[in-house]
Amino acid sequence: MKHFLDINKTDKADLRAMIDTARAMKTARAGRPRGMPDDDQPLAGRMVALIFEKPSTRTRVSFDMGVRQLGGQTMVLSGSEMQLGHGETIADTARVLSRYVDLIMIRTFEEATLLELAEYADVPVINGLTNRTHPCQIMADVLTYEEHRGPIAGRKVVWSGDGNNVCASFIHAAGRFGFDFTFTGPPPLDPEPGFVEEARAEGVAVEITRDPLAAVAGADLVVTDTWVSMHDSQSARERRHNQLRPYQVNERLMAAAKPDALFMHCLPAHRDEEATSAVMDGPHSVIFDEAENRLHAQKAVLRWCFGV
Ligand code: CP
Ligand code: NVA
Repeated sequence: MKHFLDINKTDKADLRAMIDTARAMKTARAGRPRGMPDDDQPLAGRMVALIFEKPSTRTRVSFDMGVRQLGGQTMVLSGSEMQLGHGETIADTARVLSRYVDLIMIRTFEEATLLELAEYADVPVINGLTNRTHPCQIMADVLTYEEHRGPIAGRKVVWSGDGNNVCASFIHAAGRFGFDFTFTGPPPLDPEPGFVEEARAEGVAVEITRDPLAAVAGADLVVTDTWVSMHDSQSARERRHNQLRPYQVNERLMAAAKPDALFMHCLPAHRDEEATSAVMDGPHSVIFDEAENRLHAQKAVLRWCFGV
């Protein structure tokens, strides 16, 4: 069973092939109306369940469109409206859904939910974000970087802000795709040390530094994300804002990176908090290409899961 649970759990060559497939599929359908199917219909006859226990715009729409373009069908399910949200176990849900659908994509809170679903499902499971990681996002980000600047291997990526789920998947990607990664943020919000060690063991440099201006020196890519994630308690909002304000990505910070550095944000953004509008709408920004590339990257992930 080919589950897409995390970048660090997926074979390096397979990841590389997925990015290349995504790019080829994107090129092949350039200029087509979005609702027009691809020439290849590898998901014909397949039903994909998209389960959301948290809000989503990009993940929801891009998976739905991607499956349709590949010839498959989707059902979008809200966790709270399923028995899953009312006491039915994850294991039973997995076994029941496996009798109806061909693949399950889930966005949930605890990673344990995703892992239990994958353990008990007889069909592939895709991680559409947990509190801990967001692998589909970073597949889109790698695709986006390479479209604009060529191979990401050997480049320097700097994350400024919260060492959250999106940051974690970026660290996984550093190890797998072979780029250096610098985290700059306040110590309480550091990424998980285990992820940092794991990436280092794959031979890439992963640095943690407190000075954002020093961190971005030589950066090919600067990335940030919201200061308060969906799973974070709202009571922590003010404290997080105070801790993270020095790590805002603004024009001054971008000016300290390489002149041709890109800026990424997975979105949704809180404009003028983690990144200024001047940066988000400025010459370095590729945020809407990232959003579009969720579609293309996930189509490659779906094909990999199905082996088609
Ligand atoms: N970046 C991302 O996953 O966006 P959504 O929360 O809108 O799905
Ligand atoms: N870190 C954010 C990402 C949203 C796509 C969150 O988990 O809310």
